[in-house]
Amino acid sequence: MSQNEKRLAGEAALRYVEKGAVIGVGTGSTVAFFIDALASMKNDIQGAVSSSEQSTRQLKSHGIDVLDLNAVGPLDIYIDGADECDPHKRLIKGGGAALTREKIIASASKTFVCIMDSSKQVDVLGTFPLPVEVIPMARSHVAREISAMGGHPVWRDGVVTDNGNWILDVHGWRIVDPVGTENKLNQIVGVVTCGLFAARPADIVLVGDRVLG
Ligand code: 5RP
Repeated sequence: MSQNEKRLAGEAALRYVEKGAVIGVGTGSTVAFFIDALASMKNDIQGAVSSSEQSTRQLKSHGIDVLDLNAVGPLDIYIDGADECDPHKRLIKGGGAALTREKIIASASKTFVCIMDSSKQVDVLGTFPLPVEVIPMARSHVAREISAMGGHPVWRDGVVTDNGNWILDVHGWRIVDPVGTENKLNQIVGVVTCGLFAARPADIVLVGDRVLG
């Protein structure tokens, strides 16, 4: 069921791809369906800006050009998945450890289309452990600061991000103020960014092929 909804969402996202555009592309199993669908339009687009090495490999395997964000400037459209989504289209992301590049591309894009299956819909964010990317030498310092905020950080041991950093997953948080929590976490020295996409939420959410109201 969930795989089918992910596939439907990935395919439905093609509706938002315009001819001649550069497409921002996220990371994950739902995005993998989108990339496969995008291959059918590869001659109609300029290329893609990718949020991870994983997506870059898949895009290139289809012959889709992967472009540098610095070279192409602001994007019209960014398509990516999520680990949780609340009714205000605020998200938790980073289950695949690609949160920082994802947040950069989301921030540089006019429209962020989030694609997902219905299991990701929640009333309040925080059941999914919140990923936080940290500079390796700051891991313990950041963990102590997060503990003081009431969270329970767990080091995702063995995972190194595409940026060479580490991930803390924060458990046990009911995030009632996502924008405030995002800002506070991002102020901790040693945090690269956190996986809350609240200050810049999604603009459009596709649950399967259904647009969230
Ligand atoms: C990667 C992400 C993904 O978008 C998120 O984990 C959802 O993944 P999937 O589509 O596999 O359920 O944030 O960092």
